[in-house]
Amino acid sequence: MVICKSPEQIEKMRKSALLVSQTLTEVAKKLKPGITSLELDVFIGEYIRDHNAVPSFLNYHGYPFNSCISVNDVVVHGFPNKNELKEGDIISVDIGVILDGWHGDHAYTFAIGDPGTEVLQLIRVTKESLYKGIEKAVAGNRIGDIAWAIQNHTEGKYGYGVVRELVGHGLGESMHEDPQVPNYGKRGTLSKLKEGMVLAIEPMINLGRRNVFTEKDQWTIRTSDGKPSVHFEHDVAVGKHQADILSNYKPIEEAESANSNLVVADKALA
Ligand code: MF3
Ligand code: CO
Repeated sequence: MVICKSPEQIEKMRKSALLVSQTLTEVAKKLKPGITSLELDVFIGEYIRDHNAVPSFLNYHGYPFNSCISVNDVVVHGFPNKNELKEGDIISVDIGVILDGWHGDHAYTFAIGDPGTEVLQLIRVTKESLYKGIEKAVAGNRIGDIAWAIQNHTEGKYGYGVVRELVGHGLGESMHEDPQVPNYGKRGTLSKLKEGMVLAIEPMINLGRRNVFTEKDQWTIRTSDGKPSVHFEHDVAVGKHQADILSNYKPIEEAESANSNLVVADKALA
């Protein structure tokens, strides 16, 4: 069942989404070789609680951390750990909060040092594909229009692998609501978008083949060929004439640019 949100409810969800953006911005300032994802996770939990919210991933179906931090060939749902991050690593940081009863859930992929041109292009194109999908989040379109736009830009234009096993989702008073939002599909198919639907759109794109497997910990998803994977996620309200992006990459991108330990894909490739 799809639950459409009122304008007042969407403003509450914007606050939740922006708290995630703010948390990701603080993470972007801290990233450097030598830091561990577990240190970042502890910080993330404290920061969220300091802002009167709850980290929504913690204990979700038994998930044991505040955030998902996925390095290199980990696609999503990586466990924060004590390994030091090193130059050339790419790191997806996925954070969820509940603020005043409403969920925010979004993610960003950073490059610590230079991962090489091929991987920087994967980062650039995956982020672009997210915006191509978001453009379609307009009333009257269908979920399949979003899905096709993402697949066409990544698999169609660059031959990347679009992960099939995991999908985006509706978001609201629960973290996962209907409808599912796949990153592959046909235009004009699946459910029709209505004003007030809020979607977490989240392309998960592999440099190599699309195949993935789940590790013995039952959470960590990795590429089968061991090649890197990139994940970006925004929270988006479907509008009558245009999509309303509730989360905000701008402060994250500013912090990314200001942090000399990070390589910004768009700039490095320009
Ligand atoms: N952003 C992910 C999702 O949309 C994170 C949830 S996994 C969790 O499914 F278990 F850690 F919560
Ligand atoms: Co999500």
